[in-house]
Amino acid sequence: MSADPVLRVSQVVRRFGDLTAVDGVSFSIEPGETFGLLGPNGAGKTTTISMVAGLISPDEGEITVLGRPIGPAAVEVKSHIGLVPQDLAVYPELTGRENLTFFGRLQRLEGKALAGRVDTVLELVGLTDRAKDPTKEYSGGMKRRLNIGIGLLQRPTLLILDEPTVGVDPQSRNSILESVESLSVEGMAVLYTTHYMEEAERLCDRIAIMDSGRIQAEGTRDELIRLTGGLDGVRLTGSGDTAAIAAQLAQLPAVAGAAHAAHEVRLTVRDAPSALAPIVTAATAGMTLTDVEVTRPDLESVFLHLTGKALRD
Ligand SMILES: Nc1ncnc2c1ncn2[C@@H]1O[C@H](COP(=O)(O)OP(=O)(O)O)[C@@H](O)[C@H]1O
Ligand SMILES: [Mg+2]
Repeated sequence: MSADPVLRVSQVVRRFGDLTAVDGVSFSIEPGETFGLLGPNGAGKTTTISMVAGLISPDEGEITVLGRPIGPAAVEVKSHIGLVPQDLAVYPELTGRENLTFFGRLQRLEGKALAGRVDTVLELVGLTDRAKDPTKEYSGGMKRRLNIGIGLLQRPTLLILDEPTVGVDPQSRNSILESVESLSVEGMAVLYTTHYMEEAERLCDRIAIMDSGRIQAEGTRDELIRLTGGLDGVRLTGSGDTAAIAAQLAQLPAVAGAAHAAHEVRLTVRDAPSALAPIVTAATAGMTLTDVEVTRPDLESVFLHLTGKALRD
């Protein structure tokens, strides 16, 4: 047994001409862990995983898989990695099972071992029922799941998924997420990139928030949310002397901050559900309310807090 993590990325830098696409990124992934790289388009996610998968080399830093250095020439180490790129061509005339069998042979699986693995993989990605249909009849989401299946054939120790739900309908998206969730059953380490915070929240044990080539923060969802101070937001909309109301509400013990505009008062509060009643009572003394909205902190607010930008534009 080795104490090495499945993946260790240390101070990795990658430049394209004058652009530093990845700028000193470090993280590691333990067996059985699903690790998320969450960041907007252009953050450097694909460049990072291209280096992890040994497709391109870092300019600086080091990457090891199971303690061994990875790079374009590290053929043996690469056999432990399954990469699911955003678009992997499958053969439209071949069935799902035939595609998996074909890619399995390319990966040097054969005979009963191959047939058995194809069955298992079909089950894992929820395509057993459609295994006999040509993939040209598959929806976009089913093709993506077949892509994931191809990445799973070799029982990788580390599975890398690059934004697997981009461009698929919501229903397919959900079944892709269910497939990824079921992978933890196989005990593999998963590196998942996305710009959807809901996906990172749902799937990932730990999340690195990435922007402009750097990891801005890393931790569990709850650890990241604590970075915002763990405060909820409350927005009161209506008419009245909002400045006076804001000043008055700021005196309540649960209220950490209060701001006002012409027709609204915005509060940051500790534990909004229990604070809401006294806030509304105090507010209605000087304001006619038309709406009260509570916002819990989420990864979107963490991203905003760290970068001053919205996660998706
Ligand atoms: N082969 C390349 N040549 C030049 N610039 C690139 C190349 N690949 C990526 N980039 C640039 O590097 C930055 C990070 O890209 P990428 O890693 O694809 O981000 P993400 O996957 O998070 O959207 C972007 O500004 C992108 O335009
Ligand atoms: Mg990308």
